[in-house]
Amino acid sequence: MAIKYGRPIESRVRVVPAEGKGREPAPALDLATRPRRNRRTEWSRRMVRENVLTTDDLIWPMFVSEGRRAPIASMPGVERLGIDDIVRAAEQAAKLTIPCIALFPYTDPNLRDEHGSEALNAENLVCRAVRAVKKEVPEIGVLCDVALDPYTSHGHDGLMHEGCILNDETVAVLVKQALVQADAGCDVIAPSDMMDGRVGAIRSALDAAGHLDVQIMAYTAKYASAFYGPFRDAVGSSTTLTGDKRTYQMDFGNSDEALREAELDIAEGADMIMVKPGLPYLDILGRIKEAFGMPTFAYQVSGEYAMIMAAANNGWIDGEKAMIETLTAFKRAGADGVLTYFAPRVAEKLKKL
Ligand code: PBG
Repeated sequence: MAIKYGRPIESRVRVVPAEGKGREPAPALDLATRPRRNRRTEWSRRMVRENVLTTDDLIWPMFVSEGRRAPIASMPGVERLGIDDIVRAAEQAAKLTIPCIALFPYTDPNLRDEHGSEALNAENLVCRAVRAVKKEVPEIGVLCDVALDPYTSHGHDGLMHEGCILNDETVAVLVKQALVQADAGCDVIAPSDMMDGRVGAIRSALDAAGHLDVQIMAYTAKYASAFYGPFRDAVGSSTTLTGDKRTYQMDFGNSDEALREAELDIAEGADMIMVKPGLPYLDILGRIKEAFGMPTFAYQVSGEYAMIMAAANNGWIDGEKAMIETLTAFKRAGADGVLTYFAPRVAEKLKKL
């Protein structure tokens, strides 16, 4: 960048008087621009800040279970909640002006089978939770995952045959799952399974069923990641999962492929797209936002949350500061919003400021 000098050099050269002992007087550097000037005071830093986190940027993921609340060991501060407590949490979210919550069920192991059939039960846990929230707190958005992993005995997101995850057969089931959830009142369907063609199939089925206004947030670039571990504890799929998800979730070495996935999901009718995990994939987020200009979300996943909490609870980092810094980083990279387990905590903080 070429910087024009606006005034004669001599007028900018001055001698800075020494302050304290042992400090040599130094001639002022001949600098046309001093970026530190804008950073000197809090009001000035606020005035030139490019990206600011607000409560409108938050989606709060919650875990639903039958019965009582229970802590999740690998996610300090996060609990599985019964439906009544989910409704209370939704009220809290609304009060904090968090626009949307995401509900993830912990399914009773006895209800899990090879086909994930509980996913299609209109009276399943997540559907009951959606109905309860929409009845008591209609002003809040409710998002539900579409994928079979909370329901399958093998812990995979799709149907398995001889060790392979079937694509088209799985899509047929996911379509039914999406319809069941939309019928329960879910506002945003979020396919997190990474099967090919699922967004288009779900869109047509929703439309055919009269759910023209139900939105789709596609997990567009979802990588096969080590950072989902605590989530799988929370939904009870870490013990059931056989093998890994690399035949359907993306390879973390790839970047262009994420653009192709985004192009497909948008063409198939996604209203919003998502990149997941979050922080290690800010480059992907930035590229996708830049290329498509779609409402683009990031998921600060369970392992990212766990890392920050573990370090903070050891006194190794300041957890509050890391929370704000990481969430603002998503905004800076181009995110329109973030799914984060910090949502209630950060919203409380933002409300107080
Ligand atoms: C289910 C799903 C996962 C997450 C969201 N939806 C886990 C997975 O794909 O194994 C991860 C969220 C998190 O780690 O916080 N398909």
